[in-house]
Amino acid sequence: MITCQTIDAIRQQVADWKTAGDTIAFVPTMGNLHAGHLQLVSQARQQASRVVVSIFVNPLQFNEAADFEHYPRTIDEDCRQLQSAAVDALFLPTLDVIYPHGQSATTKVIVPGLGDILEGEHRPGHFTGVTTVVNKLFNMVQPDLAFFGEKDYQQLMLIRRMRDDLDMPVQVRGVATQREPDGLAMSSRNGRLDAGERQLAPCLYQQLAEIEGAIARGEEDFRQLEQDAEAHLDRQGFRTEYVRICRQQDLSAAQPGDDKLVILLAAWLGQTRLIDNISFSSPSA
Ligand code: PAF
Repeated sequence: MITCQTIDAIRQQVADWKTAGDTIAFVPTMGNLHAGHLQLVSQARQQASRVVVSIFVNPLQFNEAADFEHYPRTIDEDCRQLQSAAVDALFLPTLDVIYPHGQSATTKVIVPGLGDILEGEHRPGHFTGVTTVVNKLFNMVQPDLAFFGEKDYQQLMLIRRMRDDLDMPVQVRGVATQREPDGLAMSSRNGRLDAGERQLAPCLYQQLAEIEGAIARGEEDFRQLEQDAEAHLDRQGFRTEYVRICRQQDLSAAQPGDDKLVILLAAWLGQTRLIDNISFSSPSA
């Protein structure tokens, strides 16, 4: 695995591979890799002849400075895992490479509407940070394919919208959420949970499964299901930000009779904010 720290270096490497007839898959990450990331790499490995992974903890997408500072940085272990996963290149840009004019002065990519609801409402500026950095990383790496986890469902939708709106020549592929045996969605944030919180955390997935079950049994009052789920999680010790039953196509509030649904939630457990979702076809549609 080669490591590139500059735009020129990664572009030259990718250009050489493309000249040789390779297709380039790209997995952008913020490091602290877990099995979920490795699944993205594995899908990338299967679908292209060269795999590039980036690690950049992007300050622009953190709406709290403390969250950015405490974000786990485990570069040596990450490199070891990427080597074992037969990654061809690691792109490791510094802050100056990504934001040479500083974060506040940089040109930004904003996806209105879709970027303002759910996560966008609760984490103002977060998605602008995500789409801005992903746009820059795409321009730097110039991949044919890019892989993102479905755990960040809204992020994946926004990146696809940005790709369409800005006519980016990259295929965006979603990869199913990887879960611990007890159902907890894998996330770099799980490592911050203490033992008691870790025991409680799978309740989020259980709650999603319960709502899906209720809809499968014919429950039609979706807003009541959302409210009941929020109250239930709060009673268990979460500080729930939202539980929403949405249409997959645009994340608007789902109504009975809608076909493709996704349930998304965000909740705090102590100092850790967790998100999760499940998507399914409504049996009543
Ligand atoms: O999902 C993430 O890890 C980040 O939001 C991403 C896509 C790497 C952009 O910083």
